[in-house]
Amino acid sequence: MTGAPAHRILIADDHADIIEALRLLLKSEGYQIEAVKSPAAALKAVEARDFSLALVDLNYTRDTTSGKEGLDLLARIQTVDPTLPVVIMTAWANVELAVEAMRRGAKDFVSKPWENLRLLAIVRSQIELAGAVRAYRRLEQENQLLRGRPGPALIAQSAAMRPVLELVARVGPSDANVLITGENGTGKGLVAQSIHAVSSRAAHPFISVNMGGLPEGVFESELFGHVRGAFTDAKGDRAGRFELAEGGTLFMDEIGNIPAAQQAKILRALERGEFERVGSSRTMRANVRLISATNCDIAAEVAAGRFRQDLLFRLNTIQIHLPPLRERREDIELLAQHFLKMHVERYRKQVTGFDEGAAQALRDYAWPGNVRELNHAVERAVLMAQGKAVRASDLGLNAAASSPKLDEMSLEEVEGFLIKKTLARCDGNARKAAELLGLSRSAFYRRLEKYGL
Ligand SMILES: Nc1ncnc2c1ncn2[C@@H]1O[C@H](COP(=O)(O)OP(=O)(O)OP(=O)(O)O)[C@@H](O)[C@H]1O
Ligand SMILES: [Mg+2]
Repeated sequence: MTGAPAHRILIADDHADIIEALRLLLKSEGYQIEAVKSPAAALKAVEARDFSLALVDLNYTRDTTSGKEGLDLLARIQTVDPTLPVVIMTAWANVELAVEAMRRGAKDFVSKPWENLRLLAIVRSQIELAGAVRAYRRLEQENQLLRGRPGPALIAQSAAMRPVLELVARVGPSDANVLITGENGTGKGLVAQSIHAVSSRAAHPFISVNMGGLPEGVFESELFGHVRGAFTDAKGDRAGRFELAEGGTLFMDEIGNIPAAQQAKILRALERGEFERVGSSRTMRANVRLISATNCDIAAEVAAGRFRQDLLFRLNTIQIHLPPLRERREDIELLAQHFLKMHVERYRKQVTGFDEGAAQALRDYAWPGNVRELNHAVERAVLMAQGKAVRASDLGLNAAASSPKLDEMSLEEVEGFLIKKTLARCDGNARKAAELLGLSRSAFYRRLEKYGL
């Protein structure tokens, strides 16, 4: 379901030759055409699908001059889909009738015989305008959270994050579906927002949905929306996340935890590129870029039969893996400074940095909760700090997590631990680390290999 689908235009006219001429003209411009010969059939089509524009004749066989059938049809179309632009066609350049139609909500009119260029110009501009109106209406329905959210600052200087930044820059602008993997708190949500921000969809909504947290009963309605009366609590029509994300990006978080029945429903929508609101048979098309994320080992979930392989293939056109913070220690200081600045502003404190002990504690700690945990530790420290600099004790880090107990480790583990720690202290500079440990460079590199560093 990537890429913008062709615009679908409904033509309603009782003359086969007119339909054929319009079909040829509009098809050559890349539009998709559906033609009907009566007002009843036109209404049925609008009830069944969404269109980008309707081109409607005012006069049909039953009553060839008054235009009443056409005007009635216009009114009925508007009740089904108030945002669908209707362009009127009149046979006798009956301007009065055309004006009446426009007073009643038609967007423009063409008189037959038409001029191709003028007709195409009208169609193009009305589709564009309606697209903007539709997007605006959806925007109004979006939740508060989305408003005024600043662009994400993705901080990453480490070598381990370079492939991540490269992928974001390279595939971000495309429409490819992206799966982001990584432990809790490694920044999957932030990377999803960054991808959206560099894409051509940036001006359109970024909608996220926590797939792991949707109870069985609300899953479909949350994703696809519902119409009034679809179930007891459905007091009104409501757009689902797919619809809210129209033209933009849908971020499906925690996809590793979706039950089988729900996986099937998503897959079906993705395969068709279409969906229906719960309680409605009207299909809607989804022009949505999908980004999903999980902290599970999704390949293992597939192997265990808990996650559908066909669904995974739809989602992971591109896969981005975020390394845990302990594997990119060079980023810790920069991130800590970033969070410090943020929280100092927020709490209006006079803290300017970390003292040496605090800096060391940040470097040594294992960060099982990754960047999120770092953020919280810094927030706490800003609140606790009494002087200008944060001290190690302000951070409240659990010492046990920073240094594993030596007497529970094998000699090899101790060596590996020591090498890692020294490397981190030397900002990843292997020559310096080897020197500090009193090892020759080749001996040091042999050990790096041995411990997979
Ligand atoms: N590289 C980064 N630069 C700046 N802030 C970051 C970075 N990575 C993560 N953060 C911040 O850390 C916090 C956690 O990140 P995020 O929510 O994106 O993680 P996650 O991987 O989605 O976690 P979870 O799996 O728990 O949902 C957020 O406040 C985010 O803004
Ligand atoms: Mg997240």
